[in-house]
Amino acid sequence: MMGDHMLFEDRLERAARLVEGELEAVFSEMVAGTPERLLAAMRHGVLGGGKRLRPFLLMASAELFGIVPARSVRAAAALECVHCYSLVHDDLPAMDDDDLRRGKPTVHVAFDEATAILAGDGLLTLAFEIAADARTHSDAGVRTALIHNLAHAAGARGMAGGQMLDLQAETQMPDEAGIKRLQAMKTGALLRFAVEAGALLGAAPAKDRACLTAYGMAIGAAFQVADDILDVEGSSVEIGKATAKDADAGKATLVGLLGVDPARQRLAQLVDEAIGQLSQFDHRADPLREAAQFVMTRRK
Ligand code: IPE
Ligand code: IPE
Ligand code: MG
Ligand code: MG
Ligand code: MG
Repeated sequence: MMGDHMLFEDRLERAARLVEGELEAVFSEMVAGTPERLLAAMRHGVLGGGKRLRPFLLMASAELFGIVPARSVRAAAALECVHCYSLVHDDLPAMDDDDLRRGKPTVHVAFDEATAILAGDGLLTLAFEIAADARTHSDAGVRTALIHNLAHAAGARGMAGGQMLDLQAETQMPDEAGIKRLQAMKTGALLRFAVEAGALLGAAPAKDRACLTAYGMAIGAAFQVADDILDVEGSSVEIGKATAKDADAGKATLVGLLGVDPARQRLAQLVDEAIGQLSQFDHRADPLREAAQFVMTRRK
């Protein structure tokens, strides 16, 4: 699926379609027993949108070690559920208070706040149900490691902890090191997990795993800097969410601290750093190299 001579956008699109199909199948299995309104809100938060970059990174990393996408797509779907949960809660009035996400009304606008909170709860826990299922990987040890790493990446020392720091930073502006730590947690942790999970599924040797971890950390940092630049310079229609919100909310971003041009330089450095970590891999790592470029050039 991620063969040679494909444009990155086409590779990403194919990965997106594959994970979308898997998520559809997971939700179909849930119809019996799930309150209709909750399932509808969960589907709204997950299906029909998003770049699916985290699933792409997971599947592309696994493929480096000979795991075909059909065998990594369930882990990718689990990761996307955690990511989408984080967006549903991030958009709540108590957090960023956003009305638009992926070009659609946010879950609390399309439904209501309580339903959005529950949809987030449902998605976060669904991720672990998917990961724990024997269809995700035949080896229970691998599944346990996936679950452990995903929990760590999503939790208080990862995404949720980063969101806490993000909110606190609205009243007490951190310095550059503080912003980097906050971003590494709120955004970096799940992107890093994506490539580490691929390595885990592929039983990658330790030295390959270490390079992928370093790549994941660099691309994770780059991703949030790019998001912060898009908040200032992007088009709301193109990115499908409101722009010019971070400065108003007093968000701690490198753009706010350093300005757009220095942030853009920092972004380019991080992308170089990410690609540099892949030097020991041959052309089969090109999709990951292109993903790093995409993080810098993306307009949505
Ligand atoms: C947005 O993530 C939230 C951040 C971590 C900056 P994405 O830009 O990956 O959002 P989707 O999934 O493509 O909508
Ligand atoms: C979100 O960061 C990070 C998450 C953990 C969801 P942002 O608040 O900048 O993401 P957007 O801009 O709303 O997508
Ligand atoms: Mg936020
Ligand atoms: Mg937000
Ligand atoms: Mg943002």
